[in-house]
Amino acid sequence: MRIMVTVNGREYVRDVEPRLLLVHFLRDDLELTGTHWGCDTSNCGVCVVHLDGVPVKSCTVLAVMADGHEIRTVEGLALGAELDTVQEAFIACHGLQCGFCTPGMMMTARWLLDENPDPSEEDIRSALSGQLCRCTGYENIVRAIQWAADKEAS
Ligand code: FES
Ligand code: FES
Repeated sequence: MRIMVTVNGREYVRDVEPRLLLVHFLRDDLELTGTHWGCDTSNCGVCVVHLDGVPVKSCTVLAVMADGHEIRTVEGLALGAELDTVQEAFIACHGLQCGFCTPGMMMTARWLLDENPDPSEEDIRSALSGQLCRCTGYENIVRAIQWAADKEAS
């Protein structure tokens, strides 16, 4: 099937198999490998992207379902050389260790701060509840999102 999707502001037209998952379309067809693939059970959340502004696990979406829609991936967070506040925050607060979960965490964090610029710790932990980090214990990830909220409020 032929699909047209806008990814990080750029239009792509591609022929895809109806069974192709969005995560594989992004990684293999568009070579946007910042979106990770970490499980076969829709549990880990490393594949989170924005679909029309809403975070989705891209391993639960078929590429054909994105036809005519807008996708934002972690590659679309920075504006040229200027990092998004969330990216700065993960650096400043050391919100990662191996970094495998980080793209998904940052995409959820970006959505959360766009929806709720002053989230409580509970709001942050709730937003991240569909995502697993196998390294950090989550403390620094939560701290990073609080740091980004504070910076964007100042
Ligand atoms: S790859 Fe694990 S939830 Fe999508
Ligand atoms: S930093 Fe390694 S899985 Fe989260």
